Amino acid sequence: MSLLFVSFLLIEIFGFVKPDADHHDQIARENIVLPAPLVPGLYVFGDSQVDTSLSTNLNTLMTATYMPYGIDFTIGATGRFSNGAVITDFIGHDLQLPTTLTYGAYKSLDEVVTSGFSYASASAGILHKTGLELGENWSMGKQIAMFNKTVHENLRRHINNTELPKYLSECIFLVFIGASDYETNYLQVYSNTSTKYANEEFGSLLAMKLAYQLKALYELGARRIVVFEIGPTAVIRHH
Ligand SMILES: *[C@@H]1O[C@H](CO)[C@@H](O)[C@H](O)[C@H]1NC(C)=O
Ligand SMILES: *[C@@H]1O[C@H](CO)[C@@H](O)[C@H](O)[C@H]1NC(C)=O
Ligand SMILES: *[C@@H]1O[C@H](CO)[C@@H](O)[C@H](O)[C@H]1NC(C)=O
Ligand SMILES: *[C@@H]1O[C@H](CO)[C@@H](O)[C@H](O)[C@H]1NC(C)=O
Repeated sequence: MSLLFVSFLLIEIFGFVKPDADHHDQIARENIVLPAPLVPGLYVFGDSQVDTSLSTNLNTLMTATYMPYGIDFTIGATGRFSNGAVITDFIGHDLQLPTTLTYGAYKSLDEVVTSGFSYASASAGILHKTGLELGENWSMGKQIAMFNKTVHENLRRHINNTELPKYLSECIFLVFIGASDYETNYLQVYSNTSTKYANEEFGSLLAMKLAYQLKALYELGARRIVVFEIGPTAVIRHH
């Protein structure tokens, strides 16, 4: 079977970091003293590959709260679909930021969180219907809506109107989405998209939708947006 991958423009490129045990420990430890951050904040949008536990609080079959997830983390499974940290943890670490909080993990709106959030949700896609059969998910549109809420309800409380655009323009926005649109949509027998769209048409549809979504991020103040390509996809068949 040949898969057609959507190629997205890589606006900024980061070096890939190899995971190692020390790295994991540092990310897991809470009170580590980090040097001054290189950017004011990191905002993460995406699917299970960068979900840092958000789906743990959703009604979904996609959870990663049990072994062997987290097998290389001293604290065990954290809701990440990984043996330990996920790529965005490494990027945050290299930017010398505190661990990127999963949106909703902070205690109250009065708590000062300007180092960023992750809105990534397992089985989420560019298309709203992606992941439908697996339960609840925060689609890319919903993740952007939650970021909008963050800007208006959280950041505005702590950063004044003169400073906010500057802050947002200096933050890094990571977008890691699109694989689920194939895995839990196009390539699934329960989905209609493969009968409606040819491979290339579906790719174009995703790219077009994502372009609108990136524009929405831009409108909300984002300037440094990193878009990852989708990787090789694994299709889980449900019978
Ligand atoms: C995610 O999945 C739910 C449940 O199947 C579905 O109703 C919804 O459209 C999807 N998106 C969001 C934002 O919940
Ligand atoms: C906004 O915040 C900055 C930095 O804290 C401060 O220097 C500036 O005077 C503030 N501006 C207004 C209009 O409050
Ligand atoms: C697929 O398309 C058919 C015919 O248009 C429709 O009846 C059915 O509800 C669709 N199924 C899904 C999962 O959208
Ligand atoms: C952000 O939310 C505001 C208020 O709800 C809304 O008017 C605006 O259109 C939203 N912006 C984007 C880019 O979604």
